[in-house]
Amino acid sequence: MKKTVPYIVGLKHNRLISMITAYDFPTSKAASTAEMDIILVGDSLAQVVLGHDDTLSITVDEMLHHVKAVSNAKPNSLVVADMPYMSYHISNEETIRNASRFIKEGKADAVKIEGGSKREQVIEALINAEIPVMGHLGLTPQSKNVMGGYKIQGKTLKLATELFEDALLLQKLGCFSIVLEGVPTIVAQSISENLEIPTIGIGAGKYTDGQVLVIHDLVGMKSKDYIDAKFVKRYDNQFDNVVNSLTQYKNEVESREFPSDEHSYSLSGDAEDSLKEWKKEIKKILS
Ligand code: KIV
Repeated sequence: MKKTVPYIVGLKHNRLISMITAYDFPTSKAASTAEMDIILVGDSLAQVVLGHDDTLSITVDEMLHHVKAVSNAKPNSLVVADMPYMSYHISNEETIRNASRFIKEGKADAVKIEGGSKREQVIEALINAEIPVMGHLGLTPQSKNVMGGYKIQGKTLKLATELFEDALLLQKLGCFSIVLEGVPTIVAQSISENLEIPTIGIGAGKYTDGQVLVIHDLVGMKSKDYIDAKFVKRYDNQFDNVVNSLTQYKNEVESREFPSDEHSYSLSGDAEDSLKEWKKEIKKILS
């Protein structure tokens, strides 16, 4: 069954929501097979797939390329496209034009936007254009230059209250859920308990209404020397698995163990015999 925005909202108070990032067709298939509720085509793509230092440089066209790949898998999970930096900062018109490309061309079900009261107008415009919006508060990576780095947010009474006010505003504007990133557990818990829409946490403790992780972090598709954020749990070591497979392949190529007959095409009977003759003929032609 395809998961919809109302279905996700209805999960609040029923069961916890699982969200994972995906940027390509096979990962989208895997996420859907594992019954993930939401697939986020996150702008984290800029870092974990494209190798940029941060998320700021990725464009709408680059994001769209990956949103299409994820949607091509026709996942049952709700597909949320992350709006990249500067795709929703200039005007309502430009925001709607960019977001609608994710819906019309990318076949996403919703978009995600970082920020609170500063984004009031564009969120309202998107929702008026029938585009479901997921909010994103707390440590918002697109604001890293303003925050002075990736810093835990909402640590004082004043900042926690501002965060809560932003969450209430996003709910009032019609966001169907909010990602809470990099905030103390107690702050995320209080916000989650006092909202009607679900919160999805990353580095926000266990009391949010769901969790999200970046797939490359979760499966360990990173070399061992990469230092993970505190909130990352590696469930596998895919990087090492890939290196091991490549090393084995290289050794088998060099020893002619690969490809074996099992992985090669041969003919049977007369056809094979006549090609053996032909092989000798070629030698004669060349001599
Ligand atoms: O881009 C991303 O992957 C995200 C999640 C970490 C929430 O925004």
